[in-house]
Amino acid sequence: MTSPLLHPYEGPHLTLPNRIAMAPMTRGRADDLTGVPHPLTKDYYVQRATAGLIVTEGIYPDIHGKAGPGIPGLVTDAQVAGWREVTEAVHAAGGTIFAQLWHVGRMTHPLNLPGGATPLAPSPVRIESEQIFTDVGDVDHVTPRAITIAEIEATVAAFAAEARNAVRAGFDGVEIHGANGYLIQQFLAENTNLRTDRFGGSLDGRIRFALDVVEAVAAEIGPERVGLRISPDNPENEIAERDPRGTYRALVDAIDPLGLAYLHVIERGAYGALADLRPRWSGTLIGNFNGEEATQQRAGEEVIAAGLADVFSFGRLFISNPDLPSRFATGAPLAPYVPELVYGGEAEGYVDYPALASQR
Ligand SMILES: Cc1cc2nc3c(=O)[nH]c(=O)nc-3n(C[C@H](O)[C@H](O)[C@H](O)COP(=O)(O)O)c2cc1C
Repeated sequence: MTSPLLHPYEGPHLTLPNRIAMAPMTRGRADDLTGVPHPLTKDYYVQRATAGLIVTEGIYPDIHGKAGPGIPGLVTDAQVAGWREVTEAVHAAGGTIFAQLWHVGRMTHPLNLPGGATPLAPSPVRIESEQIFTDVGDVDHVTPRAITIAEIEATVAAFAAEARNAVRAGFDGVEIHGANGYLIQQFLAENTNLRTDRFGGSLDGRIRFALDVVEAVAAEIGPERVGLRISPDNPENEIAERDPRGTYRALVDAIDPLGLAYLHVIERGAYGALADLRPRWSGTLIGNFNGEEATQQRAGEEVIAAGLADVFSFGRLFISNPDLPSRFATGAPLAPYVPELVYGGEAEGYVDYPALASQR
């Protein structure tokens, strides 16, 4: 019996040769001064082009949304040109590739920002329990500055401009990063959004920024080219959602009528997001589990077989298994990745994990 992950998928706006997506993964190898992707980024994604869908690493829409060293952008013409090389090569290899639009909000540091700027966030709530990576290593977080209404509007416009640049760069679409405790989830969560204006204060207020970004990006490039990634109940990066069910039901109900390309749900915590949100979402749903690598293939197969998602995304397994779909098809062993080589550096740990055929 072939794995349900290997069945082709035909959705309203996506036709894929299999149900295996490469999850977005930051690799920190862009030129830090220019934000242009590394020359090897093209090879890295081409090697993984048998994924039904590739979602790139997070890419900033605005330099103030940049996480840290080596994060790429999609703002300048040079960045667009760099990404164009990537998309052309992936398309020539038969792949489909979406760019992930990523503003980190408070998850950065003045050392990572131009002029030592203070990170922006819905409210001045500092990360206490973790440090943040900079050019000089890990340092304590600073207290972010509450973003003004004018800056919120500029940030929404920056997301839309980034989506336009993604299309100019040849991407098949974009994924808005609303997960893992970055800017959009900082607006959604009660502990990071203490605002009393129209972007906070109530459920409608907390979901407004996410909705504004989704609507602006969809208006710019067409909803059928836009995905949204969420991680309900995910405590990563000091997020504490008091009512994930209420928040994400309201968000999903509001965006479902827009007709987006997909919703990408990271399943974490006790809420059971996939089962709860699946009946409320009429479009393509991509699932992702943040669990043990050894159990990921089985988890993905069960989710697809149960109809909880149409496509399943794999992150870490794709770092060290560029030909992951064919390994799933043949039952070939899965290679482990080297954690020290994940972020930054050059070819090692990036484009030197062999595909099976070339290992013989
Ligand atoms: C090295 C690394 C970098 C990641 N970077 C991103 C990112 O830029 N954007 C994002 O949405 N998720 C990011 N994630 C989360 C993954 O997309 C995925 O949700 C997570 O790794 C769980 O899936 P997995 O168990 O298959 O790896 C990253 C994960 C890893 C391991």
